[in-house]
Amino acid sequence: MDPYGNGHVDYRAQPRPDGFFADARPKSPSDLVEYDFDTSPVLKVPGDWNTQRPELLYYEGPLWYRRRFEMAPEPGRRYVLHFEAANYAAKVAVNGVVVGTHEGGFTPFSFDVTSRLRSGANTVVVLVDNTRRREAVPTVMTDWWNYGGLTRPVRLLDLPETFVRDYHVQLARGSKRTVAGWVRLDGPRPAQEVVIRIPEARVEQRVRTGADGRVEFRFDAALQPWSPDAPKLYDIEIAAETDRVADRIGFRTIEVRGTDILLNGTPVFLRGVCAHEEAPLRGGRAWSLEDARTQLGWVKELGGNFVRLAHYPHNETIVREADRLGVLVWAEIPVYWTIDWSDPRPLASARQQLAEMIGRDRNRSSVVLWSVANETPISEPRNAFLRTLIGDARALDPTRLLTAALQARGEGDTHVIDDPIGEQLDVMGNNEYVGWYDGTPEKCDRVSFRSPWNKPLIMSEFGADALAGYRGPAEQRFTEDHQELLYRKQIAMLKRIPFLRGTAPWILMDFRSPRRPLPVIQEGWNRKGLISERGVRKRAFDVLREFYGELLAAPATQR
Ligand code: GCU
Repeated sequence: MDPYGNGHVDYRAQPRPDGFFADARPKSPSDLVEYDFDTSPVLKVPGDWNTQRPELLYYEGPLWYRRRFEMAPEPGRRYVLHFEAANYAAKVAVNGVVVGTHEGGFTPFSFDVTSRLRSGANTVVVLVDNTRRREAVPTVMTDWWNYGGLTRPVRLLDLPETFVRDYHVQLARGSKRTVAGWVRLDGPRPAQEVVIRIPEARVEQRVRTGADGRVEFRFDAALQPWSPDAPKLYDIEIAAETDRVADRIGFRTIEVRGTDILLNGTPVFLRGVCAHEEAPLRGGRAWSLEDARTQLGWVKELGGNFVRLAHYPHNETIVREADRLGVLVWAEIPVYWTIDWSDPRPLASARQQLAEMIGRDRNRSSVVLWSVANETPISEPRNAFLRTLIGDARALDPTRLLTAALQARGEGDTHVIDDPIGEQLDVMGNNEYVGWYDGTPEKCDRVSFRSPWNKPLIMSEFGADALAGYRGPAEQRFTEDHQELLYRKQIAMLKRIPFLRGTAPWILMDFRSPRRPLPVIQEGWNRKGLISERGVRKRAFDVLREFYGELLAAPATQR
């Protein structure tokens, strides 16, 4: 812990030349060194620091990690230090030399450290700072815990000098047979023959990258489409002369036609739920395959085919598990609430995080929606900010649908979704709390929704707090009975919306939030979960499962 940043600024708040990045030790008894990684507390990586030591639960500030390792770098190889995430800002040094920095708590980043490694003992020192900042994305106000640290795995990648840097392989928009994509090599031999193989589909396509290392390709193939009912994944191999990459990809198309969402050309209703990246049972940031299997297992238990991974890019493991299990994904960057729209720094950060999210998950068939914002107050600077992000997303990935969680405005009991950004989106998301923040559950009987945009609507949030096990009269807030009544009333209201094509109630599981202090009931947890953080299902869980069961039993066209 380094709450005053003493490891990189001195008592005059001037930058230290090396500070803790040097991982120094006294050379003699008279040497003054006021830190020592060897005798400092040990933290597990991956893992947020907040849940690893009591004094770190609320800690917001700089914290230092040091990892030593032995290795023998070989000529002709490239070594890349890869972080799946660090929340919020990271600065990395190898053998005392800073190799780079990154901002954004939920997307991967990496540094080529080939020239910094040496034979024998090597040292990596990482400064992670989760201080909330006005100019950051998210900004200082969020309704989730500010879990800090190296929250996902860190790896040293041993790569060929020229390696496969990136690729995209997916059905061309609206096609069921034509695969379109590209490959990009990185290194001193960019021009190479590349073979794309899909053995099970008897595909072997030979292409050649240009001097820029890139090549685009298109070819026909007979492929079984990926869908929640049949999540077919194909082994793909991309073999260049100096490197080869294997992946597992599902082939599907996702489009909008009027108010319908079409998956592989067929209208689909997204039976979903929202989820934070909160580890079931143990708490803290989720990151593991076990966490992902628990969370997605609950989605399937609800009869769901969809999950809104709120409010930031979740770990790659849960997205790959959604591919495997057949769960459609709404992915989102944390452009949340009161971003400073007129400051260029959050815009730059939001654009960077969007590009990193798309770059990581562009080959994940489960991801069908990119969301650029959540509950952002309407203003011209905000509209311009979001239009920039929408433009970026369309350029980076023309194959997926764009959305955002908007907020309807009330005209009496009619809720109107006419946020100007809605016109640029493919699918409207809308968060509403009729019956919780907006009146009592009976109000749902009177409320209707309309929109001037002829587009599909996903109700991307609704719900109520309930403490698991707290029973009482249905009008008593925070009881399971009240939450159950609210779900029954909400579902009846939602069924009356003709352009509704998906539901994602808030939220799968209770999650930590510094904004929820109510003693006995909340105690630092937002209790809108259908399941408690201990895995206890509340009564509303069965109400939602009943609703999704009805949809499943309905004729396919109305699902
Ligand atoms: C908002 C917000 C959520 C928040 C929820 C709540 O809609 O999007 O992040 O947790 O409401 O108040 O519980």
